[in-house]
Amino acid sequence: MVNNVTVIDHPLVKHKLTFLRSKFTDVHIFRELMRELAMLVAYEATRDIPVEDTFCETPLMKTSSYMISGQLIALVPILRAGLGMVDAMLQFMPMAKVGHIGLYRDHQTLQPVQYYCKLPTYIHNMDVFVLDPMLATGGSVAKAIEILKEKSAKRIRFLCIISCPEGIKHLQETHPDVNIYTCAVDDRLNEIGYILPGLGDAGDRLYGTK
Ligand code: PRP
Ligand code: URA
Repeated sequence: MVNNVTVIDHPLVKHKLTFLRSKFTDVHIFRELMRELAMLVAYEATRDIPVEDTFCETPLMKTSSYMISGQLIALVPILRAGLGMVDAMLQFMPMAKVGHIGLYRDHQTLQPVQYYCKLPTYIHNMDVFVLDPMLATGGSVAKAIEILKEKSAKRIRFLCIISCPEGIKHLQETHPDVNIYTCAVDDRLNEIGYILPGLGDAGDRLYGTK
């Protein structure tokens, strides 16, 4: 991790990213690739979550062992595209609670507009994983984290698939306490706020709306 940013540049990630980015990948495969990549990011981003001591009985003997307390984990996808990462994480941590924050970017200003928020009751006491495949200007995730902090959430991580220097800088400036996990740091934003080379509009590609 350098300056709060972990880039997961594993060969499996690099391979899957090629197909996720491709404009020839259809909705069904895009969704599956997003799920697989989210799993690989989750593996890295959960490296330091707390575990509890327990024990288990193997066929040979009783032994001490460990368990994650899923009750204390909150997944918070930013709608819409963040939903594409939720199932992958729930597969690892089926007991996790899921909150939702609805934001879209105003096409003119690129500023996030909030339209929904429903969070687990005890979010202030949880390890929070904010999910959104795209970190572009950083406005959306910065707003989502602001909302979470208003509810006293503390241990917050951000998981994305593709980021860019502009978004990383903005998030580091607004929320320096939040660790960022990403599969790639792309070149830059274009004049209308899309990541280059990127993958286009993640929500549209996940849900086939364009
Ligand atoms: C996309 C993406 C992020 C946001 C990133 O959502 O899923 O939430 O843009 O851009 P930013 O870093 O510049 O804020 P979008 O606003 O297109 O909404 P949608 O998921 O509903 O399509
Ligand atoms: N949102 C997306 O879905 N894609 C981008 O490149 C930027 C913002």
